[in-house]
Amino acid sequence: MVRFLHLISALEDVVTKYLLDLESLVESSVREDEFIYNACAPLVNGGKKLRPVLFLLCANSQGDCPREKTLPLAAALELIHTASLVHDDILDNSKKRRGIETTNSKYGAQIAVLVGDYLFAKAFQLVSNGNYGAEVSGVLSALVKNLCIGEIMQDRNLFVVPGMSEYYDRINLKTAIFLSSCCKLGGIVAGLDKKDVESFAAYGSGLGLAFQIIDDLLDFFGDEKVTGKPLGGDMKSGVITLPVIRALQVSDESDVLREIVTRREVTDSDIEDAIEIIRATDAVEYCKMRADGHIDSARINLPFPIKDSVGLALEQIADFVVDRSW
Ligand code: IPE
Ligand code: IPE
Ligand code: MG
Ligand code: MG
Repeated sequence: MVRFLHLISALEDVVTKYLLDLESLVESSVREDEFIYNACAPLVNGGKKLRPVLFLLCANSQGDCPREKTLPLAAALELIHTASLVHDDILDNSKKRRGIETTNSKYGAQIAVLVGDYLFAKAFQLVSNGNYGAEVSGVLSALVKNLCIGEIMQDRNLFVVPGMSEYYDRINLKTAIFLSSCCKLGGIVAGLDKKDVESFAAYGSGLGLAFQIIDDLLDFFGDEKVTGKPLGGDMKSGVITLPVIRALQVSDESDVLREIVTRREVTDSDIEDAIEIIRATDAVEYCKMRADGHIDSARINLPFPIKDSVGLALEQIADFVVDRSW
């Protein structure tokens, strides 16, 4: 979080006052039993905290929103996200997350399923103690439901090349709806008009599509030490994403690439070959161009009057999402 704050200078003013409280609330919500705490604390302390930051910005977009109204929901959003990552790493059989060993690798898939469930439960406990009401619960349950549908859709089609619209359905369900919901919830808690709440939701949706496209690119071309997760993980686990979809459309070696990405067993050298084929096409620029397009659509939803510092931070987050290496 400190690192994220450093990248988005405008966050300093808006979120710094909530930062330590948010982090300690997230951590204290997993301080229950020694084993659970040891399994969860290193994980919940990592990551960018993008979702609670979006929520906090939107909630404070008109003026200061009381922290007792925002902090429990901000912490719940981060716990839901972390729970989804714990489960996602089981599906992908991934070994590293946020720079540390995954729960499934350290404790096995059975414990990891339960740790993920525990984090979901703690999130909903914070929400129910916060008395946020039916609208907030409805947004939260819909986002978790959609994330699950997106992940199931993806898991049922491993090693199959998706069409463009299927790829978009998937990234919308698993990521864009989540980011959109964080912004929407901020608007709801701030008591904004329906129209403005929907504008925040639309900003978050464009941001989320771009965020997942760049994540998919970083899976091939990122630096493991920076992203904190293994390179080439999508290809190993059979998740076929936009860089491959584009390269298959335009590469002279699309037959070779198709054979590698649809094969269940790949070696590191196959992955390197696939990366070279993708790199030789316009796939990287294409993905960035698509992400830029979604960021432009996100930005046009921010013209209504919001506090300058919040507007600037939301702009800077939009810039960060397409330029990020983390
Ligand atoms: C990872 O999200 C999952 C995706 C939706 C791509 P983040 O990149 O926000 O993960 P953390 O929270 O920083 O670890
Ligand atoms: C997002 O997709 C995962 C969730 C919605 C939980 P990814 O599978 O690309 O996320 P990473 O790359 O593992 O963080
Ligand atoms: Mg994954
Ligand atoms: Mg990924």
